[in-house]
Amino acid sequence: MKPVINEFFPGLEKIPWISLGSYPTRVEKLEKMGEARGFTDLYIKRDDRSSPVYGGNKVRKLEYMLADAQKKGKRTLITLGGAGSNQVLATGIFGHELGFKVTGIMMDQANAKYVRKNLLLDKYYDIKLVYTKDTLSEILSFAGEYIGSMLNGGKPYFVTAGASSPIGNMGFVNAGFELKKQIENGECPEPDYIIAACGSIGTSAGLQLGCILAGLKTKIVAVRVAYPWLVTKWRMKRMIGDIIKLMKKYDSTVPSVDVSEEELILLGDYLGEDYAAFTDLGCQCVDDMRELEDIELEHTYTGKALGGGLDWLKKQGKSNSTILFWNTYNSVDLSEKAATIDYKTLPKKFHKYFTEPVQEETWKG
Ligand SMILES: Cc1ncc(COP(=O)(O)O)c(C=O)c1O
Repeated sequence: MKPVINEFFPGLEKIPWISLGSYPTRVEKLEKMGEARGFTDLYIKRDDRSSPVYGGNKVRKLEYMLADAQKKGKRTLITLGGAGSNQVLATGIFGHELGFKVTGIMMDQANAKYVRKNLLLDKYYDIKLVYTKDTLSEILSFAGEYIGSMLNGGKPYFVTAGASSPIGNMGFVNAGFELKKQIENGECPEPDYIIAACGSIGTSAGLQLGCILAGLKTKIVAVRVAYPWLVTKWRMKRMIGDIIKLMKKYDSTVPSVDVSEEELILLGDYLGEDYAAFTDLGCQCVDDMRELEDIELEHTYTGKALGGGLDWLKKQGKSNSTILFWNTYNSVDLSEKAATIDYKTLPKKFHKYFTEPVQEETWKG
């Protein structure tokens, strides 16, 4: 199915796009979780099932980015992320399916069980992994890999961190239109708020713009899960402007949208000590969602986002508002594939994630 947004702005047909997922993703009511947290109308958007191969929020972005890479005749993708990055894995899975070679520059991060699983899957999907310990070595490694790839047959395509770029973020502008259609079809009420994890910002920026263009009153509650210097309202506003610029290039009927920083909601109090460092609130939320709704979140993005978003909305007196949690985490179980890989076949620098302790996941109350 083509992006719904093209029906409203036909010029956008010319933006490269390839189908990787299945839409619309369902909206369901979280009765028990809502009751437990004191919210009357809490819903979930099941983007965890955006593809039967590998779900989560990266699918919508990669549909645009990988099509762009194909159109530009690229054969190699280079991307960046934390050692347990979902984005690098998603790029590897879909990139592999489309015949690209994929390199992931992986930055050191707090250890966790999911880091192990994702690294094994990175190997399973034949991603070339390069370990880096900090931002400087990440930049140097990136430059080295980029030049190496050029010497070996052509410039690679850069899949930006989190797959957030104007073209990738189009996936979430389109998601706003998808939601609008679901509301019109009576599948769900119009949300007052959408809660989303905010790492590289593209999901939240794209969704906020999509909701505005689709004529929804919905405000995005972006919960910051990465560093304060990286995730700012200024960057979110700029990203929205950059997406609009891209859209206007393809379709001059796209209206100008001016969102001020004051209108954006970005919560900075729920990160905890570091990116990927688990918090009590996040762990408790993951436990409750598993117990009450039989839905698996994780502790780096979605647990922090839902736990933090609900905490903030409660404090704002919004218990009776219509709230939609956008589940950005994959729920396709790939553990059998991971189990076929021996960690010793990974580059040596990644072995420590398998020999050193992982963070405790359960909230002790
Ligand atoms: C599961 C999950 N949720 C949310 C995000 C954050 O989305 P964004 O980077 O678009 O802000 C990411 C990735 O970065 C992710 O892996």
